[in-house]
Amino acid sequence: MPIVYDDATKRFALHSKAMTYAMGFDDKAQLRQLYFGPRLPHITDLPTCRAEDKPSAFDVTAEEPAYEYPGWAGLFYSEPCLKATFADGVRDVVLRYHHHHVTGDNGLVITLQDAAHPLDVELHYEIFESENLIKRYAVLKNHGDEEIMLDTALSAAWHLPKLQSYRLTHLAGRWAGETQIFQNPIHPGKTVLESRRGITSHHANPWFGVDDGAATEESGDVWFGALAWSGNWKIAIETTVEEQVHITGGIHDFDFRWELRPSDTFETPAFIAGFTSGGFGEASRNLHRYQREHLLPKNFSRQPRPVLYNSWEATYFNVTEQGQIELAKRAAELGVELFVVDDGWFGDRSSDHAGLGDWQPNAVKFPHGLRPLIDRVHSLGMKFGIWVEPEMTNQDSNLYRAHPDWVYHFPNRDRTESRNQLVLNLAKPEVAAYLFETLDKLLSENEISFIKWDMNRPFSEPGWLDASAPQQQEIWVRHVRTVYDILERLRKRHPDVAFESCAGGGGRADMGMMAYADQFWTSDNTDPYDRLSIQEGFSYAYAPRTMMCWVAESETWVKNRPSSVDYRFHSAMMGSLGIGANLLHWSDEEMARARELVRQYKEVRSIIQFGNLYRLLSLRTHHTMAVQYVSDDKSRSVVIMLRQHQHLLETMPILRLRGLEPDAMYLVRGINHPQSGQALMARGLQSNLRGDAVSDLLVITKQA
Ligand code: GLA
Repeated sequence: MPIVYDDATKRFALHSKAMTYAMGFDDKAQLRQLYFGPRLPHITDLPTCRAEDKPSAFDVTAEEPAYEYPGWAGLFYSEPCLKATFADGVRDVVLRYHHHHVTGDNGLVITLQDAAHPLDVELHYEIFESENLIKRYAVLKNHGDEEIMLDTALSAAWHLPKLQSYRLTHLAGRWAGETQIFQNPIHPGKTVLESRRGITSHHANPWFGVDDGAATEESGDVWFGALAWSGNWKIAIETTVEEQVHITGGIHDFDFRWELRPSDTFETPAFIAGFTSGGFGEASRNLHRYQREHLLPKNFSRQPRPVLYNSWEATYFNVTEQGQIELAKRAAELGVELFVVDDGWFGDRSSDHAGLGDWQPNAVKFPHGLRPLIDRVHSLGMKFGIWVEPEMTNQDSNLYRAHPDWVYHFPNRDRTESRNQLVLNLAKPEVAAYLFETLDKLLSENEISFIKWDMNRPFSEPGWLDASAPQQQEIWVRHVRTVYDILERLRKRHPDVAFESCAGGGGRADMGMMAYADQFWTSDNTDPYDRLSIQEGFSYAYAPRTMMCWVAESETWVKNRPSSVDYRFHSAMMGSLGIGANLLHWSDEEMARARELVRQYKEVRSIIQFGNLYRLLSLRTHHTMAVQYVSDDKSRSVVIMLRQHQHLLETMPILRLRGLEPDAMYLVRGINHPQSGQALMARGLQSNLRGDAVSDLLVITKQA
């Protein structure tokens, strides 16, 4: 039974295959977290909710028990999950047990009530037994007849057991340098990972990992989690005076307010967390499996992602019907399955100064609309996709000229532009309706199979002054919910259309968006060398099939660092493969080699996109990155390795493979004799890659 309740001791235990999460009520009926770690088989194995030892009056943080969903009240000085102001001016929330019920096989809802005011908090739990993950969110309900103002409404708090020391692993970066891995000891004080930019951001990603400093890729206890939210977010990591760590996260409370009217509910986004004793590798694999099995949109999650071509780096804004057809012919020669026209096809868009908001084909570039190009792409055997950036407008656009009040702004203040554009106020119902209708029309009138949904600037001057005063700050939440809602409705009406989430690269890659988007544009950085560290960090949190990677020109816009076709392809094959180069510049030899590499990718993509990922070598410790993917049934595996440079006569590190059946015999393509899984994992493989910027791909097959 994954969910056990012991009425005698008022304790709940939530079990997955290898993890137990437990809570219980104290004598004041307040819900505390009791345990989060390796599976404990019996309820009697769990700690009880005993009265705490009395600390010194000044050490009151020691009196802060591990509340499951702390309200701000009493002697509580950590990060609360909930802070509210009631109509009578009371700003104190004391949550007590009301009732609970089990939902289905794996779900639990515990309802808490404020001690004196009509506020209910439903805590929702879902346990994923094979992934060893737990999903939590809260639903706040006003059952009184006056407004309640929510000042903070986070998703969950996680309390970690006492360890000798703690280390935080997190993902941070910048535009064109997203998801870099950082590891730091956790000292007393508070670390806040956050975004206040309106989107998830390039600068921090809502994922964390905590261990005692000794966990590796392959072993060690790791607690980890990720928020399913695509707007302002915060994850606070704090220590208590007892030197224990807790982690609290959800929608950022900076500039947040939500007016909870009588009978209204407010649902927080989910915070998913897990525990593993299998190191960071297992933590990632558990998240990836959850994403593949439970989170990604169902209509495409069982199909391989197609090999895509994208025109952006080939033509930038200089998009024309004929130019795109020329590129499409070359793309089809390579075996590309989806041809995507990027920015520049609509409105008066010849640079990033104009046109956003006017989603009709540019009459000069496409005199007969999109149809001739789409037909041509189809006749070449490919599907057709297109770029949009619906949440934006340029001042130089028909949309803005007609509706200057549709953007976020404060009166008599600058409307600060970024990339010459302003953010549309999606909290306004008429803006949301316009966007849905425009996109629905685009998809209804054209045979489009793929939308790249971009978002190229952070928010500023987030004013919505025609709303009532208490509601104006709700834009942070309403904007994100509207994006989700439009995507959901579009997906319903156009189930054959897949979506990519992009925000100037990886600025909106998160598990909130993953419920509506089939893949992410990982980064605008298309340099195959730079990409490796971005992709490694990305893989900590997100499944390889969601990671779109393009093969770019030999010398990209990022750096004048030439690289071979093989090297670029191998770098891009680590996720879902795309090509973003100007193929009209490629020689016959380059085209032939690329065709062969696309063929190889198609041969192994089901292992990459549906298999389990093992990070064998990291650039953080070697001059080589190597990743291995193993099919679920362990019969097929692929290794991709890229060597950055060779120093002196340095040999390649031994590649000890992972995840194979020890007793089965495997054939590594290119090596004539079969070897046992055990030999490949224990003795490993010695690659003879020599030189700088060299790469290889190994295919490993189990023998019948
Ligand atoms: C963003 C995206 C790019 C491209 C451009 C178009 O930067 O990340 O891939 O689509 O916008 O303007």
